[in-house]
Amino acid sequence: MSQHDVHTAEELQTLPERPTAPLRTDTSRKARPDIAGPDTVQPPYPIFLSGAVQRGFGRGGKDLGCPTANLPDESISPMSSVCETGVYFGFAQVSGVDGDEAKVHPMVMSLGWNPFYKNERLTAEIHIMYDFSSDFYGHNMQALVLGYIRPELDYVSREALIEDIETDKRVALNSLARPAYDKFASDPHFHPHKL
Ligand SMILES: Cc1cc2nc3c(=O)[nH]c(=O)nc-3n(C[C@H](O)[C@H](O)[C@H](O)COP(=O)(O)O)c2cc1C
Repeated sequence: MSQHDVHTAEELQTLPERPTAPLRTDTSRKARPDIAGPDTVQPPYPIFLSGAVQRGFGRGGKDLGCPTANLPDESISPMSSVCETGVYFGFAQVSGVDGDEAKVHPMVMSLGWNPFYKNERLTAEIHIMYDFSSDFYGHNMQALVLGYIRPELDYVSREALIEDIETDKRVALNSLARPAYDKFASDPHFHPHKL
């Protein structure tokens, strides 16, 4: 494979060392577009993922103000076998919760090794854009990944990472507002929501 071929997350995982990620610079920050991908959903999306929510390292909520629900390793492969590492957007739904919490919500997702934290293990972390009243570890979560936002980056500070995650959320909401994406919120992969 030549240097310019894109490696899937699964291929990268077989390498003896984790890839180094480019450092986020002021130029890359200013150049960020407000919306990601084409106006229609293109293969390999939508990618359906499902699994019991696992505890991460616990930094997402406390350290970054952005709680993430981690999917178990065995449920990641439909995505890691076809996608590169990076930040993605889509919809997610948690089972066994009530009221509005049980609805399908927009999400942003990080697939990779979180270069800023130098994780050794590939993780798929989903931040659901809804203010849940409590943790939902152990609950089943369904997710539809609909597009790619950006590569994983390394950061000089936690603040810079937080700023980029805030931009990711805005980009995800703009991207999902397009009709071809929005319709996936009522996809049959999700459970009907009881009022
Ligand atoms: C939308 C989003 C984008 C992220 N982008 C990056 C990134 O570019 N680089 C990075 O090192 N970590 C990134 N992260 C991962 C955070 O570092 C991670 O969520 C944090 O380590 C919390 O993990 P924990 O809850 O397992 O401790 C991102 C997370 C989210 C939700």
